[in-house]
Amino acid sequence: MRFLTFLEPTLSARICKELERAGQIVAKVAKRRKGLELELIDKRIDVLVIGAGSEYLDLQILNACDLAGIRVLALSNGPADRRNSMTLGLNEVLDSSATWPQMEAILLPNLVQRVEQGESVEPVAAPPRTRGQVISVWGPAGSPGRTTISISIAAELAAKGLSVALLDADTHSGAVAPTLGLLDEAPGLAAACRLVGNESLSIAELERVAETYHSVNGSFKVLTGLGRPHRWPELSAARMKAVIKQCTTWCDFTIIDTGSSLEADEEISSDISVPRRNAATLTSLESSDLVLAIGAGDPVGLARYLRAHAELVELVDPIKILCVVNKVRAGVVGANPAAQVERTLLRFGGINLSRIVPFDLSGFDSATLSGKTILDVSPRSAARVAISKIADELSHGVVTLQAG
Ligand SMILES: Nc1ncnc2c1ncn2[C@@H]1O[C@H](COP(=O)(O)OP(=O)(O)O)[C@@H](O)[C@H]1O
Ligand SMILES: [Mg+2]
Repeated sequence: MRFLTFLEPTLSARICKELERAGQIVAKVAKRRKGLELELIDKRIDVLVIGAGSEYLDLQILNACDLAGIRVLALSNGPADRRNSMTLGLNEVLDSSATWPQMEAILLPNLVQRVEQGESVEPVAAPPRTRGQVISVWGPAGSPGRTTISISIAAELAAKGLSVALLDADTHSGAVAPTLGLLDEAPGLAAACRLVGNESLSIAELERVAETYHSVNGSFKVLTGLGRPHRWPELSAARMKAVIKQCTTWCDFTIIDTGSSLEADEEISSDISVPRRNAATLTSLESSDLVLAIGAGDPVGLARYLRAHAELVELVDPIKILCVVNKVRAGVVGANPAAQVERTLLRFGGINLSRIVPFDLSGFDSATLSGKTILDVSPRSAARVAISKIADELSHGVVTLQAG
């Protein structure tokens, strides 16, 4: 990996030696803050090792690193330094006495193995409970309603008195926070992922970084998505896996709004962690007990869905896929639209037993306008009733599936 250090000079000298001994490349030792952003790009830096104090670490440099997908590791000389980095939301902080193995533990993906062995992410004092269910909401490009269904299902489950976490893992166009009128300046999901890197993810920390959607019908937790899509490297596969695992000890249901693309970017074979743009979606799908696969109920939407469904079954066992056709209306598919849709899916995709959610423009428009769920603004909406039936099935664990 290529490193840039921006540290107090004696510390910098020690760290550079440490890195070089470990076979890493120190591409630049920065002495002043000015022009640092450009150096990071020019020198094709992978990791910035920076002092955690305010004379080194500030929001601009963190943002620049986020934009360029550069990892940041801060070294702290005491409580004031730690406070500065915590305030900025950077949890990858080590003591200034840090050695390479400690840095490596944060930067290199041996975390994956440890997570798989269930080692590093167990809650500190988790109340004993049965494992929560994980449901990903996925669908092809063209906005079939992944976010809408994710939010609505979360609201319906919460209304049943279940504890629910809604995660926005769409690294292309995350929209849960704006749709629910929540703050998304400090993305909760990215913060949770950082905590994994710092090995300090716990239920208490999840509570801290989550926003709450408040409702008299039932509140639920939200780990908001990336306001700026450039930050996608933060949602790496290993970290997402650890966050989802921790969520299953936190809530009865974890609902994940995913991106549409299933492409796995080329893995570059090397010993360093290679983040992938769609890692968050792919990991969510792999980690789910059930995938709600959303298609739009018009001819174009159905054609897109059928093509994408064939890709999905390469990744997810069809027994775990429930097809939900959303925005179904007579205007575009003819009389008795639900039957038309079902016939099309069976004939061209061998897909049986899909669920149908009708089109309800005014219901979802007023929900979005007021930053509320459809359950809260239009409980009698036919779309809401259909979604609540799906949530009923999910809560009873009696979903009947038969996908092609
Ligand atoms: N059943 C429905 N009836 C009418 N409009 C819908 C329905 N479901 C979703 N929409 C609208 O479609 C648009 C896209 O939905 P969204 O959930 O953001 O899609 P995605 O997350 O798949 O990109 C939004 O304006 C939403 O209000
Ligand atoms: Mg969306």
